[in-house]
Amino acid sequence: MPIERTFVMIKPEGIQRCHVGEILERIERKGMKLIAIKMLKCPLELTEKLYEVHKGKEFYQRLIDLLILGPVIAMVVEGEEAIAATRKLIGSTDPKEGRPGEIRFDYCQEMPANIIHAADSRQRAEFEINLFFTERELVEYRKIDEDWLFRKS
Ligand code: CMP
Repeated sequence: MPIERTFVMIKPEGIQRCHVGEILERIERKGMKLIAIKMLKCPLELTEKLYEVHKGKEFYQRLIDLLILGPVIAMVVEGEEAIAATRKLIGSTDPKEGRPGEIRFDYCQEMPANIIHAADSRQRAEFEINLFFTERELVEYRKIDEDWLFRKS
């Protein structure tokens, strides 16, 4: 399975409701490797670039307003098929359509305040990582379970 990198962001409402630890735990528990993480207040320009594909939709302004309300936690996650795997972890865009065990289903009820975002394709992952992180901020390291001794053959 291909090793991929993806962009994940805990939105302001996830921080306000104190779900950061639980969300990070779920990502780690899945075996994903965190290779960059930072907290920031998203400037309007950055937020508009992230969500430019939604410009013109009826929820667009509310989405932008919610994101610039408070800090977010942006991260880059690496792992086998990380893009699809993190999308499964966060669950359905609309929490009401999700299932128990999905982050959005478990921690929120509505859109656009659905507490977490993750890139939905390789192209988007690359775009979003580059939007929030410089190459130097991506930390290369090996986890103990990547070592050949710990790998199942
Ligand atoms: P996110 O993964 O951040 O990507 C785009 C966001 O737009 C999505 O999560 C939701 O917060 C929001 N969104 C998408 N579709 C709708 C919708 N139909 N109504 C309200 N908000 C939406």
